[in-house]
Amino acid sequence: MKSDGGPRNYRKDTLLAHLGRHPEGQHGAVNPPVYHASTILSSNMAEWEKKRDPKTRFDVVRYGLLGTPTTFALEEALAAIEGGHRAMLMSSGLAAITAPLQACLKCGDHLLMVDSAYGPARSFCERVLTRCGVATTYYDPLIGDGIARLMRPNTKVVYLESPGSLTFEVQDVPAIAAAAHEAGAKVLMDNTWASPCLFPSFLRGVDVSIHAATKYIVGHSDVVLGAVITTEEMYLKVRTMAADLGHCAAPDDAYYALRGLRTLSVRLERHEKNALTVARWLQNRPEVSRVLYPALPEDPGHALWKRDFLGASGLFGVVLKPAPKAAVYAMIDALDLFGIGSSWGGFESLILPTNPERLRTATRWNAEGPTLRLHIGLEDPQDLIEDLEHGFHQLQVAMAA
Ligand SMILES: Cc1ncc(COP(=O)(O)O)c(C=O)c1O
Repeated sequence: MKSDGGPRNYRKDTLLAHLGRHPEGQHGAVNPPVYHASTILSSNMAEWEKKRDPKTRFDVVRYGLLGTPTTFALEEALAAIEGGHRAMLMSSGLAAITAPLQACLKCGDHLLMVDSAYGPARSFCERVLTRCGVATTYYDPLIGDGIARLMRPNTKVVYLESPGSLTFEVQDVPAIAAAAHEAGAKVLMDNTWASPCLFPSFLRGVDVSIHAATKYIVGHSDVVLGAVITTEEMYLKVRTMAADLGHCAAPDDAYYALRGLRTLSVRLERHEKNALTVARWLQNRPEVSRVLYPALPEDPGHALWKRDFLGASGLFGVVLKPAPKAAVYAMIDALDLFGIGSSWGGFESLILPTNPERLRTATRWNAEGPTLRLHIGLEDPQDLIEDLEHGFHQLQVAMAA
């Protein structure tokens, strides 16, 4: 795609391959170079002064902390793919959660936080926001337009994550966003599960979309990185706070994320296909009570997912029938292909036991048995199924002992 700035109407997959690349200015190299820079020199004082113009503060390369051509390239691509105004990078997904919250909330304000939010986001509310005089109320992820009843005159933010961390409830984002806006609050959403490809946040009423780029955007389990994409109205507010807090992203990490982006939609398609194959198989296992994956027609969130999402990623939950912890651990230990580890979104499969009931305060997590979280990678799903079959055998052996 030529860098002439002309209007383009290309579809998402074409944009994923071409955005954030300007070979003409880089000796024809297909990918942008990685700029390792803190100091950026100006050739004279007039240029120095020009770069410090507050109106263009975040648009020029003037200090490594505020961005380099490598980070700008990734930001340009991410914003266009999700349909937002601009994007900004952070050092982690967690920083991409906390900086927008800090930008939108001040002492005396009230935050409505979904009860199924990523655990450390809750900890931030409890350990940091309370000290700043911000009150948090947790709400049922399935509340829909009922959120209107929880709005207070000082409610400034409604925070969503859909599907929910660990429990995978699908939220009615347009209904919640409409009620929030009606009451004058902004809508922040952790959109990591869907990535910028599978949930068009800004068409659904979101003001600030949050991503742990660590997961699918990077996609290779080798980088920790965050990204925030906003509407035009929210951009300077969030970007200024991020700069005031000193958030930035490492140039190599931005490069890896740009490289991951090129294959994001291809990888996601395969993650979804593999995950559906494994999830359907799990549904028929005698050890499994239910599978928490909105892409399955039996999932309570399926209709909303179908209405609002453009596809599914490869992360889902499984509720087992009652089994002692030792038997579940024996099952997990017996697996060969599923790694035991935090994070997800890479090319490889992962499994972890989870305890959603320990996090909830507004709702109760009533599960029939132990809950697991599976990330289905790009392996052959038949091999994953055979691995899980072996694991279930060990579960049964442990139960019988
Ligand atoms: C839904 C969700 N959001 C945010 C994060 C935080 O990302 P990071 O590990 O890059 O801080 C995670 C990490 O697991 C996550 O699962």
